[in-house]
Amino acid sequence: MRNKIAAGNWKMHNTLAESISLAKQIALVKIPEDTKVILGVPYVFIRDVQDAVRGSQVLVAAQNCHEKLTGAFTGEVSASMLSSMGVEYVILGHSERREYYAESDALLAEKTNIALSQGIKVIFCCGESLPVRESSQHVAFVKKQLENGLFHVSADQMDKIIIAYEPIWAIGTGVTASKEQAQEMHQEIRTMLAQKYGQSLADKTAILYGGSVKPDNAKELFAQPDVDGGLVGGASLKAADFTAIIQA
Ligand code: PGA
Repeated sequence: MRNKIAAGNWKMHNTLAESISLAKQIALVKIPEDTKVILGVPYVFIRDVQDAVRGSQVLVAAQNCHEKLTGAFTGEVSASMLSSMGVEYVILGHSERREYYAESDALLAEKTNIALSQGIKVIFCCGESLPVRESSQHVAFVKKQLENGLFHVSADQMDKIIIAYEPIWAIGTGVTASKEQAQEMHQEIRTMLAQKYGQSLADKTAILYGGSVKPDNAKELFAQPDVDGGLVGGASLKAADFTAIIQA
């Protein structure tokens, strides 16, 4: 009933030539019918990557946007700029943005609103740190992130949201959440969605897992009933690995 989604998060990697080459390789991949592929690309390469994947089913996401539509914010990029380029998605609330750029739930709520107002769909990230997990507070922690950053949106807007659960202790560490840990949290998130927006919207909303997704663990993670695909960092930078993940 829900499509599978393989989303890459390229972060701050690769040159222009490498990005174009990677995008072209991904554009050639035979994508399963029920699967959507999204590339999260650095701002400066978005136009070139759009050109590289044109004619394929690959979609392009930005990795961030500013919370205001326009103004004197040197060095920043607005959702209206992204929208004017035909960008379909934006990744918001990644733990690296929360940690290194002090992005709060309140700020992420603003960014979510501004992106949606410009017709850009949001991949909204959440996830707990290791100490939170070890004290068994992970579900409550994620619930708070979603309540404070995302659950103010209307049901119509929630239709434009993909949630990505990314436990911080699994990002870039090679330690993946077990399929049971992923399924537990994804099921909890779906229950939160059902409580807030009703079961049918909860059943429609894609919830991705992120954190050291690799070709050899993607299949069992994505086979979990509430795991609708992945947000993939490191492995999305290698065409062969990301291809295997798309096909998982
Ligand atoms: P990783 O990153 O796959 O390299 O762990 C995931 C992410 O940060 O989105």
